[in-house]
Amino acid sequence: MYLSQSAGLHGTITVPGDKSISHRAVMLGALADGDTHITGFLMGEDCLSTIDCFRHMGVQIETTEHEVLVHGAGLHGLKQPDKALYTGNSGTTTRLLCGILAGQPFPVQISGDASIQKRPMGRIMTPLRQMGADITGIHQNYCPLKIHPVPSLRGISYTLPVASAQLKSAILLAGLYANSPTHIIEPAPSRDHTERMLRALGAEVQSENNHVTLIPPRNLISKDIAVPADISSAAFFLVAASIVPNSEITIQNVGINPTRTGILDALRDMGADITISNHHNNAEPVCDLTARSTKLHGTIIAGEIIPRLIDELPILAVAAAFAEGQTVIRDAQELKVKESNRIAVMVSELSKAGAKIRETEDGMVIDGGHPLHGASFASFNDHRVAMSMAVCALGCEGQSDILNPEITAISYPDFFDTLKKLEGKM
Ligand code: S3P
Repeated sequence: MYLSQSAGLHGTITVPGDKSISHRAVMLGALADGDTHITGFLMGEDCLSTIDCFRHMGVQIETTEHEVLVHGAGLHGLKQPDKALYTGNSGTTTRLLCGILAGQPFPVQISGDASIQKRPMGRIMTPLRQMGADITGIHQNYCPLKIHPVPSLRGISYTLPVASAQLKSAILLAGLYANSPTHIIEPAPSRDHTERMLRALGAEVQSENNHVTLIPPRNLISKDIAVPADISSAAFFLVAASIVPNSEITIQNVGINPTRTGILDALRDMGADITISNHHNNAEPVCDLTARSTKLHGTIIAGEIIPRLIDELPILAVAAAFAEGQTVIRDAQELKVKESNRIAVMVSELSKAGAKIRETEDGMVIDGGHPLHGASFASFNDHRVAMSMAVCALGCEGQSDILNPEITAISYPDFFDTLKKLEGKM
């Protein structure tokens, strides 16, 4: 996909539904009693993988363009799939599903694409085994994983070694099948969509000071779910509007759950001009965000904010390359085990544009504000890298090529169309 330096981005857009919430809506809808009508669903490949897995376990799921109707099977209504479950590129599907599968009365095998087979699963296997689950990896702690039925699961008290919502959620979902409460202690707050949705479906979940407790419910009661737009997708346009002179973009109906808004805090710290309007609350807080071009400056991004912006660090690295002065990103070693090694990959791709960026053990250091030039940017099969480098291209002198642009379909199928619309080219 060829992109040139942009003269300005203008318009009001809606970005696709939140990926994390879309996954959970299908999963919990499948385990609930009754039908769940989901609006604003993200029809990206990752969430379609979740739908596919549940269909293979006998759950009836109907889809239209942005809506999904899940006919809940109940907590104990899943059926043994006739083949191994395939989770594609989706870490969320893989890890959360393992929590659910640990409590099923049938054996099952689960795996995904080449990237999934390289992502660490030991982090979920350890606590699930402590709960009594029988889960093994064909290659130790990596997919494919085999899960065998056990007579019962027990609740545990578990301190997470990493602030990971996928890990926390896998344990909570197994906790639905445990014979005693499950208690989790997080090193720092991670996204809490699972807890919020479980509560909305009638389960008792207490959260306080990084402690989460789930009392195993007798059942979950279905409730319609309106998925807000994904702040992680909005982030690309917040940065694009900030770095491309003469820009103003409004993104409607964006989810601003406080466990996800690290991007707003970090960009504002860098001097970004972002305003909030139309703030309202459902199960999740939602608003419209408007970003205007501005001069950014460097900052330090480290510590407790990291889980609140973990998926936005690639696009923040792009923002930092256009910002005056130094940006330091620390405590972000988790980036190495995402869809790609996002530290190494962002350093290599931004360097191609002439950015002064270096890798550190747990992050990167970017000396920004130097003019960047177009180049041929690889995506490393990572949707967020492809979109980050596309935004970078808009600020680079000359022409750039984004290789493997189709990968954006994982979380944002219309990304390049939206970009063209904002440039007035559609
Ligand atoms: C997610 C949690 C995060 C995030 C991922 C989605 C979720 O992963 O990076 O894109 O939906 O729970 P970790 O929990 O591994 O940090």
